[in-house]
Formats: sequence, structure tokens, C-alpha cells
Amino acid sequence: MGVSGCGKSTVGSLLAKELAVPFYDADDFHPAVNIAKMKAGTPLTDKDRQPWLLSLHSLLANHKQEGAVLACSALKESYRKTLAGDIEVNWVYLQGEFALIQARMQERAHFMPASLLESQFDTLEPLKSGLTLDISDSPELLVQKIRARYETENTAQLGIVGMGVMGRSLAKNAVSKGIDTAVYNRASEGEEHIIPQLLSDYPSPQLSGFTDWEGFMGKLRSPKVILLMVPAGNIVDQIIAQMEPYLSPGDCIIDGGNTHYEDTECRCSALQQKNIGYLGMGVSGGEEGALKGPALMPGGNRASFDLAALLLQQLAAKDPKGEACVGYLGDGGCGHLVKTVHNGIEYAEMQLLAELYSFISISNVPRAEYGNTFAGFNKGLYSSYLLSIMPPILNKKEDEAFLVDMILDEAAHKGTGAWTAQTALKYGQDASIIIAALNARYHSTAGWFRQLAQGPSGKQDKIEINLQRLLKAYQAARVLNHLQGLRLIKEVSQAMDWKVNLAEVTRIWTNGCIIKSTLMEELHELLLEDSVSLEQWAISAFNQAKEDLKYALDLGITNDLHLPVFSAALQYGLGINTATTTANIIQAQRDYFGAHTYERIDRQRGEFFHTNWTGTGGDTASTTYDV
Ligand code: 6PG
Repeated sequence: MGVSGCGKSTVGSLLAKELAVPFYDADDFHPAVNIAKMKAGTPLTDKDRQPWLLSLHSLLANHKQEGAVLACSALKESYRKTLAGDIEVNWVYLQGEFALIQARMQERAHFMPASLLESQFDTLEPLKSGLTLDISDSPELLVQKIRARYETENTAQLGIVGMGVMGRSLAKNAVSKGIDTAVYNRASEGEEHIIPQLLSDYPSPQLSGFTDWEGFMGKLRSPKVILLMVPAGNIVDQIIAQMEPYLSPGDCIIDGGNTHYEDTECRCSALQQKNIGYLGMGVSGGEEGALKGPALMPGGNRASFDLAALLLQQLAAKDPKGEACVGYLGDGGCGHLVKTVHNGIEYAEMQLLAELYSFISISNVPRAEYGNTFAGFNKGLYSSYLLSIMPPILNKKEDEAFLVDMILDEAAHKGTGAWTAQTALKYGQDASIIIAALNARYHSTAGWFRQLAQGPSGKQDKIEINLQRLLKAYQAARVLNHLQGLRLIKEVSQAMDWKVNLAEVTRIWTNGCIIKSTLMEELHELLLEDSVSLEQWAISAFNQAKEDLKYALDLGITNDLHLPVFSAALQYGLGINTATTTANIIQAQRDYFGAHTYERIDRQRGEFFHTNWTGTGGDTASTTYDV
């Protein structure tokens, strides 16, 4: 129900199609005299409506068994009573603003003139019980919400397995979006309280919790969409094996953990044999992102993505243009590879901030001003989520001391940075900046040098630093870090034939995730426009800031700072800016001691030469090898 133009025929017919029941539009049942009145712009009276409502009642009475969907204005409580009589009706009110509905009505050809809309709004009495939905959602989403509310068995649209921090937050996110959700967590020792506690902390008719597979699986609507939020590794295989007896062809499992993409490849093809869809999906944003809207990076079975797309779109954050930060990225383990590289970029972004902090700590900026200094950095092109969390981190005090000064300086990691590095090495890609960030974490935990080393990194005299130049150097290093990550995705995608669209990857990364930033928005626009290559853009950004990077490193080195990522960035920038390399010397050495051969710049590629390097005078012999 709802006023004319609210979309009830569109939504109603879609719903009827999904439920495979007949659809009726109440407008088709008006007596001719009512239609003539409305065409003439005269509002109908209660008396005019009475025969029409009674005929609709008889129509519905014929469908008591199988049900039907009727789209009817049914503006007043008394009309609804007449229409329903003794029939059980599940009411849905499609609510919308006057201006929006008027605009819609003016666009369409209907016997009801838009001028009558005002009288409809005057007559309208909102539903006392039933479901009220806002028409700004798409018809598909409205249908989903109606089904979630009124279907009484197998109602859950989404199943989530694993109620750790991320699983719990995603479940709350789903329920807050009106998604009927069933969650599962084992009740083994120490975990018995998890489901009961969640249900008591977050009571909702749309959330059901289980500690047994039968109950959980029985609650899910078919085809089932099940999101696994469990630690990566063997546990994923164990859980899939436990779920398998309850799965049917066409169901879909989504692994939302930080899984290695090669494991996802294997699981995807193993389940494909059984007609079970599998998606490996990167989920970024930490606890808050999972709760309010994460960035989602799914890859794997395309049909499964299509099945889960509406749900995932509701869960995800929104990009600056209002689109959901989720999109199908490609086959197999593609989504998990994209998430892994996301984390590699994250490692370098974090380390750059740590190095920026080390510059500030030798500068004449007073300690109490560190937070403000970083807050000042987080503006315009430089702003990012990770930079935005620096002021609260630097300002946090425990008693009189700054908390960061009390935190042990050994960085932990869960593996994705190392996987990024391993993947880069496997595919012969330079990921020196990301690897430097990873090494910095390893280095921080290498106890042996701590015992030998004297004092902190950096000289203790406070120096004057040009913060503007430092910031430009920081930004150039970030550009090169993103270049390395995106080029790695491109390379692996080509090798695996995934056809990953980098413009889509960067769009997904514009919000919800840990590496969201203004730079990411800029990168997305660049990749979308496709007028300048990513590489050209990065080289020119580096060239504009090259002197600033040198300034920063010069200052850092003079003052004994350990700057692995700033240094790697400068070196990488110098490398990609150089047309010739010194690899001719490497090739000569290889040929000298191992007869590994070399190619020449004055001959065709593919012709290989070997030289007798110790021969005297004109005695050097070159040989052409056919390879
Ligand atoms: C994210 C993060 C997240 C990651 C943590 C910890 O995008 O939300 O990348 O997935 O698990 O940042 O990673 P490390 O323990 O390896 O630092």
C-alpha cells in the first residue's frame, strides 16, 4: 500500500514473481465511474471506494491457499479492514516524500493526475502494524526486506560462521541493514557463552544464533549464503567439511578471512566439482569498518557473487559517489590476492608514518604538539585514515605519560605482508618499499642487536625541520608504495588470467578500508580516466618531490635515523626514473664466471653471446647462440 506513484506495482509484481504467486494491481479493478472521476481530477469519496474494496476482498478470498500479491493504495485503516475482512494480510507500506513521488508521477502515463496526490496524502493513515519501508531503496532491495520480514521459516538471508570481533560486528551490521541473519559459533570449552551473550546484548527478531550445524543450516533460506569469519588456515577446511552434509548445489560459501589466495584457488575448484559456489573475499576496515561498513573484495565463482551481491552491497561502505565499496574482482583467489596486497600497502603506509614520527621526534616540535602536528598534516591531498588516527594515538596519556612511550617497540604481524613480499618475489616484481616495511617489523623484533646497540635511534639534539618539505617527501613515498602494490596486482592478474580492473580495486578502496585516503580517490579517478598511465603519473609525482625526498633522507641520515621505507622509496623512484641500469655489469660477470651469455644493444634481442673474457688483445671470441 501507499499513495499513487510510490512504486507499489513495480515492487509488488517483482515480489509476486519471486514468490511465484499471482500479482494484482488494484487500479485495474476500479469501476468505470471511479476512473472517470479521477481522470477529471475529482478525489474519490469513501462511498466511491466501498464497492471497489469489496471486489478486491473477493479477489483475495480466491487466493487464501497459495496467496497473492496485491498493490493497492489502501490509504485508510478502515479501507484496509474492508479489504482484508477475514483474510490474513501481511501489509507493507511504501513510504516516500511528497516531492519525490510527485516527480515520479509527472514522468509516467497514468489516469491519476499528479494533482490528486495532495488529496491522497491528506487521506493517508500510516500502518498501525505491518512493515513500513522507505522507497529510496531499489525495488530489489525492498523485495528482499519484505521477504525477510514475512517469511516465517528458513528466513535467514545470510549466515555468518565465527563470532570473533569481525564476525560479530558484521552480524550487527547486517541486522542494522534489515538483513535477516543467522550466526553460528561452536560451543566448545571457553566459547559456550559467545552465542547466548550476543543474543542478549543484541536482541533482534532478525538475528538468530546457533551452536549446532543443523539448526543454523535449517534457518538459512535457499540457496544459502554463508560468510565464514574464522582464522585463515586448516580451520576453514574443517568448517567446510562440517557444513557439507547440509549444503545443496547452488549454495554459496564466502571466506571473509585473510586467507592466502592460493588456498582459496584450491577450495574454489574443489567446491566447484560439487556445484557449491565459493568466494574468497577480502574484508577491510577492522572492527569499526565491519560494524558500519567495510570495503569488500570478493573473487571466485561469478554466479555466487551474483547471488550474494545485494547482501554484500548492503553491508559495504559507500564510495564518494554513493556506490557500495564492493564489486566482483575476478576468478579463484583473486579477491584474497587483492586483500593481501592491500595489507602490503597498509604495512608501508604504517611504517612511513612511524618514520615520519621519528623525524618529528628529532625536530624542535615540542612533545605536547606532536598530535597537533600530525593533525595539521592530515589535510587535502595528504589526508588518509591511517594519518587521521595518529593524533589520538600521539595524544593519549596514561597518568602523566604518553601511552605510546610505554608501548614495547616490537611490531607483530599476521602474515599478509609476508605473503605480499613472497608473491612479488614469485612473480619477479619489485616490491622493495613494501618489503622494507615488512623487514622493519622483523628488525624490530631482532633482540640480538638491542643488546649490542647503545641508545635510541637518532641524535638527541633537536633540529629545525621544514615540515612542508617532509610532507611532500612522505607523499611521494606513498605514491610509489601504491604504484608497487597496484603493479603487483596487475602482474599476478595477468599471469592468472583474472582480468582484475584496477580502477574497480581503487574504487573499493576509497572507503571502509584501512588504506582509504584522498590519494586513493585520486588514483581511482586516474585509472578511470585512463588518459595517463599509472606509471607515468607516479614518475611525474616522484620527480616533483624528488628534491624533497632527498632533503628528508639527507636530514635523517645526518641525524642517524633508521628510515627503511623512505630510503626504499627514494631508491625505487630513482630506479624507475633511469633509462639505463648497471645490469650490463651483472650480465658480464655472469658470463665471465659461468658462461651464462648476454644480449647486446647493437644486435637483435634473442641473439645470445658468450665471450672469452681472459683472452688477450683481439683474441675475444663471441658466439651467437640460438635460443
Ligand atoms: C584490514 C586489516 C586487517 C589486518 C590487520 C592486522 O584491512 O582491516 O588489514 O585485515 O588483519 O591490520 O594485520 P597484521 O597483524 O599483519 O598487522
